[in-house]
Formats: sequence, C-alpha cells, structure tokens
Amino acid sequence: MKILLTGVAGFIGFHLATELLKRKYSIIGLDNLNSYYSAKYKKHRIEILKKNKNFKFKKIDLKNKKKLSLLFKKNKPDYVFHLASQPGIMYSFKNPSTYISNNILATKNLILASINYNIKKFYFTSSSSVYGNKKKFPIKENSKLKPINLYAKTKKQCEMMLIKYFKKTNIDLKIFRPFTVYGTFARPDMIFLTYLKKSLENKSFYLFNKGNYTRDFTYVGDVAIILAKFLSVGKIKNKIFNICSSKPIKIKKIIPIINKYSKQKCKIILKPYRKGEMIKTYGDNNKIRKIVNFKKFTNINDGIKKTINWYLSFKNKDILYFDKVKY
Ligand SMILES: NC(=O)c1ccc[n+]([C@@H]2O[C@H](COP(=O)([O-])OP(=O)(O)OC[C@H]3O[C@@H](n4cnc5c(N)ncnc54)[C@H](O)[C@@H]3O)[C@@H](O)[C@H]2O)c1
Repeated sequence: MKILLTGVAGFIGFHLATELLKRKYSIIGLDNLNSYYSAKYKKHRIEILKKNKNFKFKKIDLKNKKKLSLLFKKNKPDYVFHLASQPGIMYSFKNPSTYISNNILATKNLILASINYNIKKFYFTSSSSVYGNKKKFPIKENSKLKPINLYAKTKKQCEMMLIKYFKKTNIDLKIFRPFTVYGTFARPDMIFLTYLKKSLENKSFYLFNKGNYTRDFTYVGDVAIILAKFLSVGKIKNKIFNICSSKPIKIKKIIPIINKYSKQKCKIILKPYRKGEMIKTYGDNNKIRKIVNFKKFTNINDGIKKTINWYLSFKNKDILYFDKVKY
C-alpha cells in the first residue's frame, strides 16, 4: 500500500512516517518546508526518513494544484494522511491569511485531487482546539464545537469541508482531534523547546494564565501508533476520534518535571490569560481505546524524560530555532 503523507517534515508527520515505515508501508512524503519554524530542522527530519528505501520525499506546496495533481498521477497513492497545516494559536492573530490558505485552501486542493484519483482512505488531523472552552469533562467527540481562535476555526471548516465533499464518494474518511502532542523532535514553538531554550540561555520564561492552563498532554509516539493502527480499521459511520491520554495536567506542574530531568531552571514570570487560549483541555479517549485497542498511554514523567534526553543529546541545537516565531 502506498501512502501519501502531507506535513511529513513536521513534528507529528515525521513520527508517523517513522511508524508507518516500521510497518513496511511505502511512503510518499510531501511538505513545502515553510519557514514558520526552522526549515533546517524540517530538512533534518527528512534526511533521517530518507535512510529508508521505502520513503520518497516531494517538496510541494499543497496550494499548487498543478504539481499536486501531477504527484497523484505519477505516484498513484492508495491512502492519504493529511497532516500539513499552519499550526499555532497566537500566531493566528498576527498572520491570519496563512491559516486560510494553508489550512482551508490547501485542504480543498487535496480533497479534489483525492477524489479525482480514487483514493481509498483519507485521514485528517484536525485539533482538540475545535471544542473551545468547555464546562463538562472529559470532552466527547459529539460535544458542540465552539472554536475561540482562527487556527481552530479553520480546522473546524476543514472538517466540514471533508464531510461534505466525501459524502457522495466511497472514500473512507477519518478525522482525528489530537490533544497537546509532545515528545522527541518537538516543535520549537511549543512549551518544551521554548522553555529549554530559555533555561539554557539563562533567560526568563513567561508563564501565561499564571500556569493555570490545563492540558491533556499526549506523547507523540502514542499518537503515531494510534494513527498507524487505524489503517486496519474499515469504514465507520461515526468518523471523528479524539486522540488523547485523558490525563490532564496543569502547565505549572509540568515545569518542575522539566527542571528535574534537564537539571536546569528558568526564572518564571507570571503573566495573565491570553485571549484565544483554551483554559482546559481534557478529552475522552474511550472510542480510540476500543477501536484500535490502544491502552498503554505513555505517562507524563516517562514522556518528559524521553523528550529532555533527546533534547540534551541533540548536537546541532541552533538548527531547532528560527526567529519567525517569538520564543
Ligand atoms: N502538535 C500538536 O500538539 C497538535 C495538536 C493537535 C493537532 N495537531 C495537528 O497535527 C498536524 C501536525 O502538526 P505538527 O505539530 O506536526 O505541526 P508542524 O508544523 O510541525 O507540521 C506541519 C507541516 O506542514 C507543512 N505545511 C504547512 N503548510 C503546507 C502546505 N501548504 N503545503 C505543504 N506542506 C505544508 C509544514 O512545513 C510543516 O512541516 C497539524 O495538522 C496540526 O494542526 C497538532
């Protein structure tokens, strides 16, 4: 089976490709290697994947319909995993247009190509942020969507578009809503690498909402296994799945665990709540537990330890960071 994986140079895409290659699938990895964060870091992930003979990389932008269509024509993928996206919540206030083009328009192009070339499965990573601020926990997949930032709004829009376009086709559509994903080869705009950078440089770290955001941290290795296992699941009427460990923890409790394993400390400056950020994420994972029989989620201590050990041994730390994102 040949799989087209978009966003392969990204954090989750890299881990998913690694997991699928382990399972002997052939991967055509697509990414535009944009510079939202370090393109050098993205290329580094691709170089690792290229060591496997079943991996092929194509530097293509999903906004380019012609190149995308040619890629489908030449490579005839059976399945599509669509992970490419413009992520980030605060950045969506700064540069809204990139969310419209790289999430909505890019996804539409991929949908049309997938229909034209008779793809069998289309798996999309949406986000837990589509739920917005909730009062009832854990959040179930059928909970009402009330996105509170543009990133989340574009993800919701993509979900609706996918359901509408694939309704009259035979394509097996599945929509995943991952909750805060962390782990090795992490994104430099997310808490772990941001915090570690500040502590190495002896700088202060801003802790927004005074550290009282709660996140359902989910280890990236678990996410990759769950997504890969879904390839053996047939069509299901209800096609939306939370991906979460269902073990929420406050950010202020994460910091001491990072300090413990990195043996470093950052000066913390407490800051207020920022508009657009969710106060608490805590998902219900019963559906995925049953469907793919995945029960052993990595606990937060083990996950953080693995992440920090990877970071400390990463030789070329300067390729991890790039100035477009404010760290
Ligand atoms: N990391 C998380 O905690 C998290 C949580 C929920 C959902 N998600 C979703 O999972 C997916 C992967 O997230 P990630 O953390 O790996 O992000 P990432 O930014 O590391 O990866 C996304 C990749 O997509 C590529 N890309 C963006 N626009 C493109 C375009 N127009 N054409 C081709 N490539 C393009 C980028 O270059 C990047 O390498 C995204 O859809 C994201 O919204 C992530």
